[in-house]
Amino acid sequence: MKVVLILFIGLLLVAVPLFAVQAEQVGADKAALGDAPLEKASADAAEVLFAGRCAMCHQLPEPAMLKPKQWKLILVTMQQRMQQANVPPLQAQEHDLILEYLTARAR
Ligand code: HEC
Repeated sequence: MKVVLILFIGLLLVAVPLFAVQAEQVGADKAALGDAPLEKASADAAEVLFAGRCAMCHQLPEPAMLKPKQWKLILVTMQQRMQQANVPPLQAQEHDLILEYLTARAR
């Protein structure tokens, strides 16, 4: 019985600091996430949106293949194509985010 008790206490002594280290790590990860710049988050959102909305009817176009002005016009045409295909057209906010994404990577 004594042996079991000693083993149990020994286990606690090892386990408790381990948990403490893990908890500290989680805290550090959260802090790192909180400090991530907002710009990065919205660039990721734009990329997800672009990939999700612009590869439904054809392959995802390469942003560098056109100039910003051309992208602006293409988006007008694509809005029409979406309407014709009964695909919900881009909301103003989605349109702006995608255009911003394409413009930043355009020719
Ligand atoms: C509803 C289907 C549909 C969706 C969604 C769609 N497209 Fe298109 N896209 C087309 C069709 C159809 C064409 C063939 C050319 C045309 O009819 O204008 C095309 C052609 C293109 C072209 C080539 C244009 C040219 O003149 O050669 C580009 C670039 C393009 N799409 C970009 C996009 C982008 C960016 C998005 C996302 C905002 C998008 N497309 C979403 C249907 C779609």
